[in-house]
Amino acid sequence: ACSSGAGGASGDSGSGPIKIGFSQVGAESGWRTANTKSLKEALASDNGFKLTFSDAQQKQENQISAIRSFITQGVDAIVFAPVVETGWDDVLKEAKDAEIPVILEDRSVDSDPSLYTSRVGDDFEKEGETAGKWVADNFAGKSANLVVLEGTTGSAAANDRTTGFNQAIKGTDVKVLDSQTGNFTRSEGKTVMEGFLQKYGKSINVLFAQNDDMGLGALDAIKAAGLTPGKDIQIVTIDGTKDGLTALADGQFNYVVECNPLLGDKVAEVVKAAVAGKKVDKLYLAKDEAFDQAAAEKALPTRPY
Ligand code: AHR
Repeated sequence: ACSSGAGGASGDSGSGPIKIGFSQVGAESGWRTANTKSLKEALASDNGFKLTFSDAQQKQENQISAIRSFITQGVDAIVFAPVVETGWDDVLKEAKDAEIPVILEDRSVDSDPSLYTSRVGDDFEKEGETAGKWVADNFAGKSANLVVLEGTTGSAAANDRTTGFNQAIKGTDVKVLDSQTGNFTRSEGKTVMEGFLQKYGKSINVLFAQNDDMGLGALDAIKAAGLTPGKDIQIVTIDGTKDGLTALADGQFNYVVECNPLLGDKVAEVVKAAVAGKKVDKLYLAKDEAFDQAAAEKALPTRPY
């Protein structure tokens, strides 16, 4: 059931560049900056593309109007990173009716897979599970009082990481004191952590931040409360940006699960194939690692983002 678009696109004809409309989530995190750069480089004119880039500022309605405008412009393919999982059926049907292949990058949608061509992304559920497993193993035999900084409400990244994490701590003694969204940003990570500290004080001894940026924002709140991050409160995050791995190497974070943002080359390959009417897979997942302090020290000198 692998659709590659209905072949109405013209960009593979050799007559000119492949016209792409790319609707990005926003610029909420270091991960996102690296992801945007990767896509812009891979979809550059040197590689045979003509890219129209649109920043949705974390708003679904902006993405829907960007996609509609790409359809009106008659692009050869649409690439988009869906801010949330639900609510895409109508606009995806419109793209399908216009015979424009749609490639999801990064996050997924809950629409029927026949409505899009392919997704290039990361396995968020596995990332959450790896983080949860670290908490369960690291606090085995000790009491873990955990708070969670969730990503953007309704996003596949937040939903799936929560599912994977909860599965991994199920049946353990890890106690979830609270779980709230910090919208994947540093500033909201800091504000929500301040609230957790006011409410639960020193009883918190572990934080799961669903991305590096929220964890980095939380560091400020933890230090301002007179506590030592990495010691009084152990911290596990997801992404593996340079800033996240630096905090890990410094001992302020304790474990970081990678989410690879360098999806551009695979997206470019899938777009080219889809526009040429070739069969593509429904899903391409990037490979993700996990880092402890020693691994972070080793990785940092060559970390590209
Ligand atoms: O969808 C991927 C997530 O979105 C990253 O983990 C986060 O940093 C970004 O904002």
